[in-house]
Amino acid sequence: MAGLFIALEGPDGSGKSTITKLLGDYFKDKDIDHIITREPGGTSIGEKIRELVLDTNNTEMGPETEALLYAASRGQHVHEKIAPALKEGKVVLCERFVFSSLAYQGVGRDLGIKEVKAINDFAIKDIYPDLILFFHIDPEVTLKRKTTKYGADRLEKEGNDFHNRVYNGYMELIKMYPKNIKIIDATKPINDVLNQSIKEIEDLLISKEG
Ligand code: TMP
Repeated sequence: MAGLFIALEGPDGSGKSTITKLLGDYFKDKDIDHIITREPGGTSIGEKIRELVLDTNNTEMGPETEALLYAASRGQHVHEKIAPALKEGKVVLCERFVFSSLAYQGVGRDLGIKEVKAINDFAIKDIYPDLILFFHIDPEVTLKRKTTKYGADRLEKEGNDFHNRVYNGYMELIKMYPKNIKIIDATKPINDVLNQSIKEIEDLLISKEG
């Protein structure tokens, strides 16, 4: 099987991490060679960038620096891990990818989707996901979850306005790039969310085979 790149996207608190893990179990059961990874991070250089960018002490960080750090982490991730795994024919399950930067930095930080896409295009060359599972959940719900979460990081600590802008950013992106995106209703019980995610992946596998 040729490699398959699947990104899981959505606001903070939409349940991506849980589903990523369960999808990993699904691939394991099916004996499909895969890797699970995340952004920012995924490599040792990327994890150092993650610490830097999410550190709540870094209150002086400018939006451009933030966008470039995410893109740098992503560039290293593609170079060191994602592109080689795809070349070996593996499934790559990645929690967050370029859409996060377009929504959080492009719209949330008001840097512009086009501008943030340009630095990411430079960083990742042409490695884009075959499928983006977007975990849709009303910001009201996630914001409530977020504010009750202990030890929130620098981005999670941003106010409701910021997270509402991010949500609107995602909605705009879904309209701009409808091709590879599947919307998952993340308000449903976890089993339903998992089953819908698996169905989207299986549909893609079938269409690739056919
Ligand atoms: P995580 O909590 O999902 O691991 O992500 C860390 C935070 O970083 C989260 O609040 C979303 C944010 N983020 C961006 O702002 N831009 C990006 O490109 C990525 C990958 C994450």
